[in-house]
Amino acid sequence: MPHQSPEHHADTHVASTFSPDLSKTRNVDATENGVTSEPFGEVDGQPVERYTLTNETGMSVSILTYGGIIQSMIVPDRRGRLDNVVLGFDNLDEYVSKSPYFGAIVGRYANRIAGGRFELDGKPYQLPVNNGPNSLHGGLKGFDRQVWSAEASSFEAGFVLVLKHTSADGEEGYPGSVDVTVTYSLMNGNALRIAYQAVTDAPTVINLSNHTYFNLAGEGKGTILRHALLLRASHYTPVNASLIPTGEIVPVTGTPFDFTEARVIGDRIEQADEQLAFAGGYDHNFVFDRAADMPFQPNFLARVIDPGSDRVMDVATDQPGVQFYSGNFLDGSIAGTSGRTYERRAGFCLETQHFPDSPNQPHFPSTVLLPGERGFHSMTTFAFGRL
Ligand code: GLA
Repeated sequence: MPHQSPEHHADTHVASTFSPDLSKTRNVDATENGVTSEPFGEVDGQPVERYTLTNETGMSVSILTYGGIIQSMIVPDRRGRLDNVVLGFDNLDEYVSKSPYFGAIVGRYANRIAGGRFELDGKPYQLPVNNGPNSLHGGLKGFDRQVWSAEASSFEAGFVLVLKHTSADGEEGYPGSVDVTVTYSLMNGNALRIAYQAVTDAPTVINLSNHTYFNLAGEGKGTILRHALLLRASHYTPVNASLIPTGEIVPVTGTPFDFTEARVIGDRIEQADEQLAFAGGYDHNFVFDRAADMPFQPNFLARVIDPGSDRVMDVATDQPGVQFYSGNFLDGSIAGTSGRTYERRAGFCLETQHFPDSPNQPHFPSTVLLPGERGFHSMTTFAFGRL
């Protein structure tokens, strides 16, 4: 038997190990566990619904059919006090007019493709560019701007919302018609699992992620600079000035990118460092370390701790990388769900994913999706607990 450390089973293990002891909690909302839905406005004449999943252990998650957006995520702290730990809005119009991907499903290709160009089977494709010279997060009308069909159900360990969208052949310049299913499962023990599935009828590229901005102290309650972050990533992919990977995969040792032991996010963010300067902070893809014998298991690979609330979030994924974004483009111009302003670095994202610009970087793990029954599958779990 190859050696298997406990974290190889982390997808289930994390939730049980780090879940809060709710027998001691107070103030947990009396809302019954279950699933509710309500209208949340209209976009282009299409009605949008908000589904709220509430589990037996004090956590609830609200998800919009527009963009599959996680609109709110209410999680107990060490004393059982509830806070919404994700950035967002309380109305659809602001999501449509000014959201920097708050909570959304990003695709068909999460993050950047250089010049919006790539070749597949010798054929060139040009995508609309929407971020300087590059294509970002699937283009002008990516998966974050689609209205998804939704179906809720329950299972023995929690509640499930299944979202579906068919991305037409040629949509945003990508080849192949792709059926995408994203399944959100809220589990007792306070973990949200996001499973992605995609099936295509012609060769294409795919990279799916979720763009939730977290603040474990609560949305609108200051910056995330005092949160501590641990990433099981001894390498990262440096970028050029337009945030496209140079193609190198470099060790983090001795750089501000070393989070292999938990480090306070704000400690090194202002250091004189060309990579930090390009992005105005952290906005980089980290390459996860994986056991060679289990390369695609959903290992526990990231942890974030807020010392104020003692909330801890653990992230398990089967993806090869994560975009750690420290909310550098937030600038105080947005007031969010609670009406409080989102200053610079008011939230962080951990976008589990394949590496940016992989279609143009043949030595990165492939993002090519071919027709076939199985298609693309991936899974990420965000599990909440306390110190
Ligand atoms: C990703 C990108 C960032 C930024 C945000 C959205 O995290 O890497 O550069 O575009 O999305 O604002």
